[in-house]
This record gives sequence, C-alpha cells and structure tokens, in this order.
Amino acid sequence: MYNTIAKPIPQRSAEEIIQLRRQHLNPTLSMSYQEPIKMVRGRGAYLYDEQGNAYLDMVNNVCHVGHCHPTVVAAGQAQMAELNTNTRYLHDNIVEYAQRLAVTFPKELSVVFLTNSGTEANDLALRIAKTYTQNNDIIVVDHAYHGNSPTMIELSPYKFDGKGGRGRPAQIQVAEIPDDYRGQFRRGDSKAALQYANDLHRCIQAIHDRGAKPAAFYCESILGCGGQVVLPQGYLAAAYAHARAAGAVCIADEVQVGFGRSGQHFWAFESQNVIPDIVTLGKPICNGHPMGAVVTRPEIAQAFITGMEYFNTFAGNPVSCAMGLAVLDVIEQEQLQKNAAEVGAFLLEALMNLKTQHPLIGDVRGMGLFIGVELVKDQTLRTPATQECKCVIEYLKAHRILLSSDGPYDNVLKIKPPLVFSLANAKEFLNCLEEALKTLS
Ligand SMILES: Cc1ncc(COP(=O)(O)O)c(C=O)c1O
Repeated sequence: MYNTIAKPIPQRSAEEIIQLRRQHLNPTLSMSYQEPIKMVRGRGAYLYDEQGNAYLDMVNNVCHVGHCHPTVVAAGQAQMAELNTNTRYLHDNIVEYAQRLAVTFPKELSVVFLTNSGTEANDLALRIAKTYTQNNDIIVVDHAYHGNSPTMIELSPYKFDGKGGRGRPAQIQVAEIPDDYRGQFRRGDSKAALQYANDLHRCIQAIHDRGAKPAAFYCESILGCGGQVVLPQGYLAAAYAHARAAGAVCIADEVQVGFGRSGQHFWAFESQNVIPDIVTLGKPICNGHPMGAVVTRPEIAQAFITGMEYFNTFAGNPVSCAMGLAVLDVIEQEQLQKNAAEVGAFLLEALMNLKTQHPLIGDVRGMGLFIGVELVKDQTLRTPATQECKCVIEYLKAHRILLSSDGPYDNVLKIKPPLVFSLANAKEFLNCLEEALKTLS
C-alpha cells in the first residue's frame, strides 16, 4: 500500500553546508569552532565526523545516557510505529511517565505538566506562578539563561544584558549572582550564602516601589550560563524564605543539571535541602528527543485550573513519553547517577591538583558531572583569561575532545558530558588539558 520512498538526503562537504547555511539559514545560528566540524554519528560519549574520527564529547548534556542509546532509540521507534497522537485520548504512556517522574521528587511535588522544551517548561511555570500568586513581577539571578521565547529572553540577564539585548524589563529584578569565587562574598566566609540571599530584599523592595508584588523567583540549582557556579550552602533556603515571605513561588530550573547529573542527588536542588514550589526540566529528559516538563505542588496546580485549557499539540505524546520512560530505565539500570558521582569526584580532585601546578587555573568547582574550571591571568586579581580559554578549547578539539566555555567573561571551561563518561575518558581529558596548559604557558 505504501510504496513511496523518501529521497536519499544528499551528503555535502562541510564547505557546501556552510554555503547553504549562509544562503537559507540565519547567522544567528552559531557554529562551534574556528573550523566547524561535520558530525555524522554518535555513540556513547563519542561523536564521529565524516572521516570517522572519534571525538570525546564533554559538551552534550542533552544526550544524557549516551548518544543514540539503543534502548531509548528502540522505545521511540516502536511507539512511533504504533501510534502518535495527543493528550486528548487516553494512553498508558503519559500516566506511566508522570507517575515514574513524580516518584523521583519529594512527595510534595506530585503534579506533572509536559512541554516540548526547557523554554516551554519555564514559560508554563511562569503562567502557573502568575495565576497562583496573581502577581506579575519576577526575580532572577544575574547571568541566568532560562530560554529562547520572548518571555524567557526578558527573564534572562544572559540575553537581555548580552549582545543585541534590550536591557532589563521593568517587571524583572536581577539578584546578585552568588559566585563565591569572583563575587563580593568569597568561599570560606560562613555568611556568604546568607549575604547573597539578602540581595533578594533589594529586589523585593524595588518591586514594591513599583507598586507591585513578585510572582516568582527563578534560580538554576547549579548556575550554568553563570559559569558552573555551585550555590553556597544555604543560599536557596534563605533566598526561598525571602521570596516566599514576599508572596512569590520558588522555581528551580533543572533543565541543565537534573536527572542525576549532580551525582549525590537525582535533582540538584536536593543538595541545598530545599523543596521548590515548581521545578522545570528539559534537555536530558528524552536523550535528545524534544520534551520538557513542569513539576509542581497540587495546590499550585489546582490554582491553574481557571477554565482555560492547557493544550499543547505535541507535548506528552506517546512517543515522547516512551522515550522519557526509557531514559529513566537506563539511568537506573546503568547506575548513571552513581557514575556521575564517582567520575565527577575523581575529575574534581584531579583538576584541583592540576590547579596547584598551573596558575592559569583560578578555580575548580562543581558537582557530579557538572564542573567548571575558571581560567585567570592573575590569581590575585582574578583577571579573566578569556582568550586562553578559547585556545584551550581549540587545542582540545585538535586532539579530538569537545569542550565549551561560559560565564560572564567566557573564561570558564564547562564540563558536562553524557553521564556514560568513564574514568578512562576523564583521564584522557586530564592528560590533554595538562598538555594544553603547558603549551599555553
Ligand atoms: C538553564 C536553562 N533553562 C532553560 C533552557 C532552555 O531550554 P531549551 O533550549 O530546550 O528550550 C536552557 C537551554 O540552554 C537552559 O540552559
């Protein structure tokens, strides 16, 4: 009955692809590296270029359980061949997924909404927060990124204060980044967490001065675009207390750091001993297939029932849910959270050792397989070594290791590989990083 054959997709050289991108796509889609790579295959922690060269991938926190994991691929293929439709029909997959996801959270967080991306999850969390509190203003942490929709750009200092940004909108207040390496309160100061959290008072006052009230406080559980910043212990508890006292709900953005990446816990907010009101998820949730989620308390979800339907054509479809379930199975059966804890601890220690020998390394911080190495030209002044950071990344690429950078000065090496990243992978990276640092000095 079906005899249509999908036409083979022409295989083009890197130069031809760049040319066609120029013609039909937009340069706002950036490319990695001075000489971009054409990748054709992915397996485990590796990506392969068109010549078959293997690159150790330390960038991809989306293909969480490893590139093209066969269990996840098979789950998606099987469901795609059977049925794909929307949430208006009854289906086992969505309820099974919601139930399985909910048990990974503290019992207070039991209601799940599904979306198609991290951006959509944060957008929906905002709608829910505004409906629940009946307030409109928002507090975010400096340098944060929460998504690409117009609303999320307005909520992301990383974007509105960055290139092409239009500055802070009046309804958004920006709390000081609790960076205890570079900020005004440093590691070792036992009051650093509370002092940073106190900045929320300033934000709340500014909102009151506008005659408004805050609807939400958004914070990643470990700051990604802010430069892999581990929150000082006690920061979230104090910041949440201030935000809640002013009537806001507390939203933990776990789009980058969730699903066991932080090692000790499945959700990174757990390391701060808090229970958020709303948690947003994305990237690793389906190992690369687009899905996101919002998880919240029943009373907050209840307030969202206003008569207006929440319908999202693709969100929560049987294929996405089947893949999401397979991701949970793989994390559990392959003990990937434990791997993140063990390999992460080894990497952190080895990097701290490397810091004692290389003055270019100003700071090493992280949890599990979410680690930052901040490069500085001067240990005392902490002058960002932005250019050197670029050189390290190009050096690693030349030796077939993929790494990215971030932070307000783009001088933080950002380690966030798929969770199948092994001890052998960590050693390979450490040797190469050491060579790069020697070459630079
Ligand atoms: C912390 C955080 N939140 C939200 C998003 C948005 O997710 P997505 O690009 O899937 O829409 C990102 C993406 O980088 C992110 O890092």
